[in-house]
Amino acid sequence: MNVMSGPFQSQETLNPAKPLTMASLTLAQRSNRWPVTAAGYAAWRAQALTLLSGQPFSLAREAALFRRLCGPQPGETWLDAGTSTGFYAGVLAGQGCRVLAADLSAPMLREAQRRESHSGIDWMLTNLEASGLPDAAFDGVTIGATLNETHHPARFLAELARLIRPGGQLWLMYVPRTGGPLQRLLSRPVLGGLTFPDPAWVGRQLPGCVRTDGLRMGAVAFERYVKENSGVRRGFCKKA
Ligand SMILES: C[S@@+](CC[C@H](N)C(=O)[O-])C[C@H]1O[C@@H](n2cnc3c(N)ncnc32)[C@H](O)[C@@H]1O
Repeated sequence: MNVMSGPFQSQETLNPAKPLTMASLTLAQRSNRWPVTAAGYAAWRAQALTLLSGQPFSLAREAALFRRLCGPQPGETWLDAGTSTGFYAGVLAGQGCRVLAADLSAPMLREAQRRESHSGIDWMLTNLEASGLPDAAFDGVTIGATLNETHHPARFLAELARLIRPGGQLWLMYVPRTGGPLQRLLSRPVLGGLTFPDPAWVGRQLPGCVRTDGLRMGAVAFERYVKENSGVRRGFCKKA
């Protein structure tokens, strides 16, 4: 199948059409494989949501929001998709979850392992647009801004939705589309190749998943989806 003929969202995300070889990575993805990026990432990450949301937004506040809306339980198995320096992996492990923290950058994974030494975390170097992991392997998946960087966001979301068990949940933090000039620039391949998806488009890439929560803080969106099974009702919202 030619995926370009499917619901590829080049218009909706402002991204110009990109070649679809598995070997191709966005400039943002490639830059995350530089050791210097991995070395500085945690310092940027600690400030990022304050800058993007326009209000004090510490990592502790982000972790508390995630825990309140998703309520990860001890013994659950989670995938942290594009873990970078392991922020969500660390939060999940702290809740007693078993975590697979995956990233396509070896320097990021090395830095993450140095920072998050919890025994509940396994590390995996992979491109999550085609992970090869088994269907329905996880109780939950976290995506902290990786959606903005990945080469083919539709393929990325479809792959992650496949990995969630029925009744499991998906947590997204990303910068949604504004249509503004800065996003247009950053979506150019030579300036990052970033994707700024529309939340409605994100929902359409997750058939069988129901959005239970959606928060917008300045330039940042937080969303929780639940993969439907017979016991999940629309509008259901699990609070810890
Ligand atoms: C913006 S950072 C995410 C940070 C992290 N999730 C957090 O919340 O701090 C994006 C990370 O995702 C990784 N990444 C991007 N595309 C990926 C893909 N298709 N598969 C696996 N990792 C990917 C990058 O290497 C980078 O480390």
